[in-house]
Amino acid sequence: MTASTAEQTSSSGSKGSEPPVPEGAITVTVKIRRFNTEFDDEPRWDSFEIPALPSDRVLNLLHYVKWYLDGTLTFRRSCAHGICGSDAMRINGVNRLACKVLLKDLLSAGGKPTTITIEPIKGLPVHKDLLVDMEPFFEAFRAVQPYLINYSPEPTRERLQSAADRERFDDTTKCILCACCTTSCPVYWTDGSYFGPAAIVNAHRFIFDSRDEGAEERLDILSDKEGVWRCRTTFNCTDACPRGIQVTKAIQEVKRALLFKRV
Ligand code: SF4
Ligand code: SF4
Ligand code: FES
Repeated sequence: MTASTAEQTSSSGSKGSEPPVPEGAITVTVKIRRFNTEFDDEPRWDSFEIPALPSDRVLNLLHYVKWYLDGTLTFRRSCAHGICGSDAMRINGVNRLACKVLLKDLLSAGGKPTTITIEPIKGLPVHKDLLVDMEPFFEAFRAVQPYLINYSPEPTRERLQSAADRERFDDTTKCILCACCTTSCPVYWTDGSYFGPAAIVNAHRFIFDSRDEGAEERLDILSDKEGVWRCRTTFNCTDACPRGIQVTKAIQEVKRALLFKRV
């Protein structure tokens, strides 16, 4: 199924419509972890055979299941272009955005059809199927005060900043709060009270902003027992980030700021 086919089916498609089979399609098996917390005692795996093109994204495959095979499949997505961060899931055991992963990158050597497994991200309670409760994640995000703090009198013009000062936190401005990093962190899996890398990335974005005056407060929050010292520098978070943010490096910079009491 191509993106354009997906768009056509979004207006006309529903369970029971004739499923489109694009020319050149191969059949892939998609195994999805299902769990309806209202009715099921245990999660289960459902398999679907889907005709798809190597250029399709995993999100297209999920749409195919939802629109033609099983309308009860539940997942989040919005932009479909790697911007909103809502479709983070574990694809073949790795945290990814479903709208950014192409089928051709999951095919076995020689482009042979393969089985793709899709599960919810780990460490957050599952509501239904691939839909998790993001509230604990956003609670940690809010706790680090991810907004500009400035106690000086309101300026009469914009607060100026040099290019070098802006560069210090450029990388961490790219975060889209998808949770791929936090939910790939082994420390977060074993103890959900750890703030997690995404919260630290968003603290970093303001701690190193020369216009901000809340660094001390945030560092105080992050020196807590659930803060940066829990990080074991395993780099899972950096590998998982779909925005290419150097997450572990940002965490190290926050640790250094705490150690040397200097931003
Ligand atoms: S580097 Fe730290 S925050 Fe990132 S996954 Fe490893 S332990 Fe978690
Ligand atoms: S740092 Fe990267 S992986 Fe983590 S929430 Fe932000 S965008 Fe997602
Ligand atoms: S749907 Fe928005 S990032 Fe994938």
